[in-house]
Amino acid sequence: MKKISETIFVCNNCGNEFSKWSGQCGFCKEWNSLKEIKNYELRITNKGKNSKREKVEVKKLSEIKEEYNTNQNIFSTQISEFDRVLGKGIVRGSVVLFAGEPGIGKSTLLTQLVGKVGGLYVAGEESAEQINLRVRRLGLNAERFDVLETNSVEEIGQILERTNNVYKIVVVDSIQTMLVESTITGTGSLGSFGSVNQIRESTFRLIELAKKTGVAIFVVGHVTKEGDIAGPKLLEHMVDTVLYFEGEKNGDLRILRVSKNRFGPTDEVGIFQMSDVGLSDVRNFNLSGSGEAKIGSAITIVMEGTRPMMVEIQALVTESFAPMPTRVFSGIDTNRGRLLVAVAQKVLNMPMYKHDVYVSVTGGIRLDDTGCDIAILAAMYSSYKEKELKNKIVLIGEVSLLGEVKKVRGWEKREKEAKAMGRTVPIIYSIRELKNLV
Ligand SMILES: Nc1ncnc2c1ncn2[C@@H]1O[C@H](COP(=O)(O)OP(=O)(O)OP(=O)(O)O)[C@@H](O)[C@H]1O
Ligand SMILES: [Mg+2]
Repeated sequence: MKKISETIFVCNNCGNEFSKWSGQCGFCKEWNSLKEIKNYELRITNKGKNSKREKVEVKKLSEIKEEYNTNQNIFSTQISEFDRVLGKGIVRGSVVLFAGEPGIGKSTLLTQLVGKVGGLYVAGEESAEQINLRVRRLGLNAERFDVLETNSVEEIGQILERTNNVYKIVVVDSIQTMLVESTITGTGSLGSFGSVNQIRESTFRLIELAKKTGVAIFVVGHVTKEGDIAGPKLLEHMVDTVLYFEGEKNGDLRILRVSKNRFGPTDEVGIFQMSDVGLSDVRNFNLSGSGEAKIGSAITIVMEGTRPMMVEIQALVTESFAPMPTRVFSGIDTNRGRLLVAVAQKVLNMPMYKHDVYVSVTGGIRLDDTGCDIAILAAMYSSYKEKELKNKIVLIGEVSLLGEVKKVRGWEKREKEAKAMGRTVPIIYSIRELKNLV
């Protein structure tokens, strides 16, 4: 048993510990991230897997019978969009970090998951009564829905060992409210919730529990303003899968993305719609509004994962009276937006130096797809010219610095989706051809 009792400095970003303060973390190189912890008193009771071994052995893969991909080890979430994101479904014994901004619907979706599959909901933030109210409101089956009100990881361990394989999934809501009690003795200030060390230690214990009992654990993680998971970056390395739940809170569209997956691809997204009965799967989401051609509006098709999705881009280009014209881009990358403004100025001779530009993507989604370039430019051009684009067209293509329009990945799928929506995709090679499209 290791016992330390002194002042230490812990990096808020990566969780590494140092005996001396410095302006920059010696490990992750983050600035100003070291936090002083006084009277640090910690007993590390957990000796880790390796120290329990008597003999170090090498395992022969050919002798390991069980395959991870057998159906026995993967089961469905019974929510098709959720399955799509995870690959095939939930892998037994895996740990999934489920991150999202406050109020986005993390607890809602995971409550629905437990309601469908059956399992244990560890409530660190809410009371069992609150969970019960939610379960009723969402119309879920309360029969196989158990709630454990606790902030202690040891208690979760006790329950899992006592119930032995009763639960297929456990949801821990949230990791920021979990503690490993055995790491605290006396006034140890490591005891505060959400401290880097508690988060790291709790996650580590939960991973051990998952591997030992075969239960799949979903861990809710809050996200900071910058969009990172609150707590050590290390968390993302430790778990098997990292999911981000995002969307615009005022809108009802939610997107589930996977940023790391040890058991499946990371390019799939799940699309959900939030209502008072919870989150429902959206198979074909069409975010392109009424479909009428409007001044300053262009329709494009983005690839969300392997799936094409129609979205509307709106632009407002107005004469500027400020010394520096305004550039506001929402839903698209600012640098990309600026580049397109510059190309418009140079190739289309639009006097952008004296025009304010506002661009937004409807539905509150973020486009990270250069295939939308031409549509962004077309929306700006349409607003500038005060003429609508031709009816029933969809614009797809990446714009180069010279104003050429290039084909992008998933072209066939996008074109097929456009046709299915009763629209055509004009083939253009240069943004100069936009003149023929208004
Ligand atoms: N009674 C209700 N009727 C309709 N929608 C509701 C109701 N209660 C909650 N919601 C919706 O659910 C959202 C909150 O969902 P949820 O509690 O799952 O979010 P969360 O991500 O877990 O938040 P937190 O970070 O606070 O834990 C609200 O923003 C609202 O849109
Ligand atoms: Mg919640």
